[in-house]
Amino acid sequence: MAREFTSVGVVGLGTMGAGIVEVFARNGIEVVAVEISETAVERGRATLTGSTDRAVAKGKLAPADRDALLARVNWQVGLDALHSVDLVIEAVPEHLDLKQRIFAELDRVCKPETILATNTSSLSVTEISVATTRPNQVIGIHFFNPAPVMKLVEIVRTVVTSAEVVADVEALCERLGKVDVTISDRAGFIANALLFGYLNHAVSMLESRYATREDIDAAMKLGCGLPMGPLALMDLIGLDTAYEILDTMYRRGGRDRRHAPVPLIKQMVTAGLLGRKSGRGFYTYERPGSPVVVPDEQTPVTTESALADGTHGIAKVGVVGSGTMATGIIEVFAKAGYEVVSVTRGAEKSAKVFEAVKTSLNKGVVRGKLGEADRDAALGRITWSATLEHLADVDLVVEAVVEELSVKKALFASLDEICKPGVVLATTTSSLPVIEVAMATQRPADVVGLHFFNPAPIMPLVEIVQTIRTSAETTTTAKAVCAKLGKTGVVCGDRSGFIVNALLFPYLNDAVKMLEASYSTADDIDHAMKLGCGYPMGPFELLDVVGLDVSLAIQRELYLELREPGFAPAPLLEHLVTAGYLGRKTGRGFRDHTRR
Ligand SMILES: NC(=O)c1ccc[n+]([C@@H]2O[C@H](COP(=O)([O-])OP(=O)(O)OC[C@H]3O[C@@H](n4cnc5c(N)ncnc54)[C@H](O)[C@@H]3O)[C@@H](O)[C@H]2O)c1
Repeated sequence: MAREFTSVGVVGLGTMGAGIVEVFARNGIEVVAVEISETAVERGRATLTGSTDRAVAKGKLAPADRDALLARVNWQVGLDALHSVDLVIEAVPEHLDLKQRIFAELDRVCKPETILATNTSSLSVTEISVATTRPNQVIGIHFFNPAPVMKLVEIVRTVVTSAEVVADVEALCERLGKVDVTISDRAGFIANALLFGYLNHAVSMLESRYATREDIDAAMKLGCGLPMGPLALMDLIGLDTAYEILDTMYRRGGRDRRHAPVPLIKQMVTAGLLGRKSGRGFYTYERPGSPVVVPDEQTPVTTESALADGTHGIAKVGVVGSGTMATGIIEVFAKAGYEVVSVTRGAEKSAKVFEAVKTSLNKGVVRGKLGEADRDAALGRITWSATLEHLADVDLVVEAVVEELSVKKALFASLDEICKPGVVLATTTSSLPVIEVAMATQRPADVVGLHFFNPAPIMPLVEIVQTIRTSAETTTTAKAVCAKLGKTGVVCGDRSGFIVNALLFPYLNDAVKMLEASYSTADDIDHAMKLGCGYPMGPFELLDVVGLDVSLAIQRELYLELREPGFAPAPLLEHLVTAGYLGRKTGRGFRDHTRR
């Protein structure tokens, strides 16, 4: 029989603590909510009232249930109020000495059988536990932000936590409607160990002006389907908390430079820019604690008319190639009203592409997303050719041929001879340096990367890659064209992986390393990222879809270009590729897809 928890204590009512109070009170458990001062108690109470009022307004909570929920919370200053609770969860700032002091005090105040839990994200639960005389009753219960919403709880068992305590806490999490994964005491546990290197990398992109905050966030939301971009997430977590987590992970987790907090974070914390909770972080919020972003001096001021001007003069577009990307891109341009000249290496290939475009447009008709007349008009706008000379009068060329530098360079040299002056020449390369392609022409200022995502007709993102020679006018035109295609164009520099792949693949690679180290299972790691961070797919599901060979190739490129030791491909990934386990396409990758 699992232990019955009738009352719990929560210490620290900040970003996490206030949410944890709500989780317990919602599930019929009495809560003693403790802070250091009356002001801090009031802030915690306001957070809970605000959150439950919003739930009532949205019809998710009945007013009577809200009142009952609020009545279950006993607000107090000081730890002495926790003398008779069954469990305490500590959620004070991420400092080891502070947590140790609190645990020593809790040990003195609480009943002997009380379980003492920490919500730490990165500190050693073991080190916290030895500040008490009951380390076997100390455990990590790591909730995710916002605690009432996110389903995951990481339960951290130290080498001395008793099996009974683990089982009791697991049963409690189930009662709270949470999904738990139980793991051992390692810096960052599962989710943060995979998340924070990515967040820190995103901040370094901003710090080095590689891309704007809006573009970095839009890229990850639209390119990977994440619920929020990394910089908005940093604001939600709190920059002070994020700094401490990174710093601890750096020191505890083998001094991986990717966890050394980017200097900008420390500067912002020192300046009081802590994120949502202080009303300003990477973004500016309506008021402290508000989720509503308001414009500030960094908000881009691209007007509709500026975008419209940018597309001025582009009516006819050439698309070179006959693969998946070229096919999708032809469809996208034709549907958006452009005249398209498709150039392939022969009539047979053109016929194949034509069939593929027609099939895809027909699917749109069947799904009621496209009228028959619009489909016919789109098809009617495409001319099929096997000679580059037909690109003599186009206004924009999008190249989507095989990912080989020599082939692309030769093609761009030909385009340079054939196309009229002033034409924008774009490459869809996902891994080659755009500048190499640009320098194969006499007009590098007109060359830009337009990195579409697969499937192009569906994915809303395009990375616009500007080289050090790309003119501002070319970039503006590229942005305007993306807008006319109904896509979000994000601008970035000419570095391996651009924004999305550079941020995504090291995280996937880290997940493989975590599996390889036997810290957790593929299922639990996938669960943690989906339920703790709201990712649409876990890393192993995604790797199997993308293909392990493709993932390995991208990771190798990133490693070779950036020489970051932490980017070295995981040996397990290499072995699986060598073994022919490439993911769904071969029936087996991290999982066996032949058995259902
Ligand atoms: N922010 C996140 O997204 C997140 C997610 C999961 C876990 N965590 C972890 O949760 C813990 C709390 O982080 P946070 O972001 O909520 O921090 P926070 O700064 O928002 O809140 C901490 C609260 O603790 C209070 N406090 C400080 N000393 C205290 C004491 N002696 N007694 C009682 N209260 C005290 C502070 O007044 C403050 O209200 C940290 O260990 C953090 O790593 C944070």
